[in-house]
Amino acid sequence: MSIERVGIVGSGIMGAGIAEVAAATGHVVVLRSRSQQGADAMTATLAASLAKQVEKGKRSAEEAAEIAGRVHATTHLGELVDVDLVIESVVEDLSVKKDLFAELDSICKPETILATNTSTLPVVEMAMATGRPELVCGIHFFNPAPAMALVEVVRPITADDSTLAAALAFAAACGKDPVEVKDQAGFIVNALLFPYLNNAVRMLEQGVATREGIDAAMKGGCGFPMGPFALLDLVGLDTSLAILDALYDEFRDPNYAAVPLLRRLVSSGQLGRKTKKGFYDYQR
Ligand SMILES: NC(=O)c1ccc[n+]([C@@H]2O[C@H](COP(=O)([O-])OP(=O)(O)OC[C@H]3O[C@@H](n4cnc5c(N)ncnc54)[C@H](O)[C@@H]3O)[C@@H](O)[C@H]2O)c1
Repeated sequence: MSIERVGIVGSGIMGAGIAEVAAATGHVVVLRSRSQQGADAMTATLAASLAKQVEKGKRSAEEAAEIAGRVHATTHLGELVDVDLVIESVVEDLSVKKDLFAELDSICKPETILATNTSTLPVVEMAMATGRPELVCGIHFFNPAPAMALVEVVRPITADDSTLAAALAFAAACGKDPVEVKDQAGFIVNALLFPYLNNAVRMLEQGVATREGIDAAMKGGCGFPMGPFALLDLVGLDTSLAILDALYDEFRDPNYAAVPLLRRLVSSGQLGRKTKKGFYDYQR
């Protein structure tokens, strides 16, 4: 099945990024946001990103206009009726995602593939909330979606081979390097990455070094492009906490038990770059 029309649900960090990637590679995109404000913000983010690419000489102004013209932002889920693929990218909360999958199942044409961009949650549970579990899989983009090469394509035990083949082909058509992985919490990258990020927070909490010191050490000593606190702020501390909780739920491994400081920052609304304050302050 060839995928030409893509629905994206959720206009946060990832929804907006995936919309840009899909539109830039020739797909027609219907992006659903819960509010008109969210839809407008997403359109403005896309316009700003494309303008920057034109300014840097990476795209012509005509090409940028064509890409923007392929994205239609809406507040109505019903407009996803005839898309070939939906990628949901709403908050990392299983009950919200299951409700959404049930709703999408009742709205979309019977052959539409329903995919989730979840970082850790069990895809099979979303599949079983629908009447078409064989057409449900994970398509997990990385942040920022336009820049990162990897897409994890997640195979729940309920998925058909043809669904996986279509998802892998879609990721490749988006210019990405997909890797297939089974439906286990954290898939490949987050299962390996989050114990490291969590232990960095523990080290900060214990006063071993400053956040700047830990970030500088991991950049300079391991060649990482950014340190753990800059990365946590980029991912979003609420999303990071939800990822750790899902990993802990699945494996009961103490390395996945979120360090209290992370939970306290989330409780205080300091979520990272998206709220302009997390481990670092982005207000200035
Ligand atoms: N941030 C990352 O680095 C990253 C990377 C890969 C995958 N993901 C995954 O992508 C998904 C979205 O993450 P994000 O970083 O874009 O988050 P975000 O906080 O930037 O955006 C979340 C979106 O969900 C919507 N939302 C919140 N509550 C909702 C509800 N009850 N019903 C419907 N929509 C609701 C918000 O309006 C917003 O559009 C999550 O599943 C996350 O695990 C995140």
